[in-house]
Amino acid sequence: MLSRSILWPILALLFAAVVERDVRSMTSAQAGEKTVADGIYSDAQAERGAASYNAACGGCHRPDLSGATGPALKEDRFARIFAGKDLNALYTKIATTMPRNAGGSLGDNVYLDIVAYILRENGFLPGSAELTTDVLPAIRVLPGRPKPPPPVGDFSYIETVGCLTAGPGGTWLLTKATPPKSVVLPVPADRGATVAVGAPTGTQSFRLLDAMAYGPNAHEGHRMYVRGLIVKLPAEQRISISVFEMIAASCE
Ligand code: HEC
Repeated sequence: MLSRSILWPILALLFAAVVERDVRSMTSAQAGEKTVADGIYSDAQAERGAASYNAACGGCHRPDLSGATGPALKEDRFARIFAGKDLNALYTKIATTMPRNAGGSLGDNVYLDIVAYILRENGFLPGSAELTTDVLPAIRVLPGRPKPPPPVGDFSYIETVGCLTAGPGGTWLLTKATPPKSVVLPVPADRGATVAVGAPTGTQSFRLLDAMAYGPNAHEGHRMYVRGLIVKLPAEQRISISVFEMIAASCE
């Protein structure tokens, strides 16, 4: 019989080996695990999903997923209900119970498209392959991410805040202006939520195309909120104004 003094070190070694093996298999499972952040649907699929969602779901969950008679499908609620689960849980909930009172009526492919759209709206970027039902259980859902703001292109509808300054030849400029931010229509009533009206000024400069219509002399040197169409030329950026409002009677 082995003496105690030999037995204990042997047991300890065996135990250590088992623990190490388990830890290793756990971490390799985690490392190899796919999540919704891994580009698991295609942009075309999300685009189709947008159309189906707007037709079949938007009425109760709103086009922007913020929720109405049905709960929000993004942000805190989405994280609380679906994060940590596999994507099959989200898919099955939708495919078997939605639209409410007509669960299962849309067909697998349409439900997959809608899941792709919901993921895109939660800030997860598309990849090259379409999402299919067989991979759903192997994909983990994460809490949603802030959606990247849409790029500001030429002729985008934008808003900015800056200082009204007289330019050469009777022109009017908005100087020390904040970076132009795309305005999503319809414009929210509380514009302060989309542009930080109290924030420090920026470094951009815009030529205001139709400032004369807004009595600019009375606002020279004031801090102004401007919304309108941006026109980007090589030498300057211009704004064709649609909203022009004073924020403060000074502008430092
Ligand atoms: C007639 C209104 C209505 C329509 C249309 C509808 N839903 Fe719902 N949805 C609800 C209600 C109410 C709930 C909450 C009760 C429940 O979970 O069944 C819900 C729950 C959900 C949930 C669970 C969300 C959570 O946080 O609990 C998801 C996901 C969902 N709907 C997706 C969809 C999708 C996708 C569509 C379109 C295919 C859709 N719904 C269409 C009313 C609707």
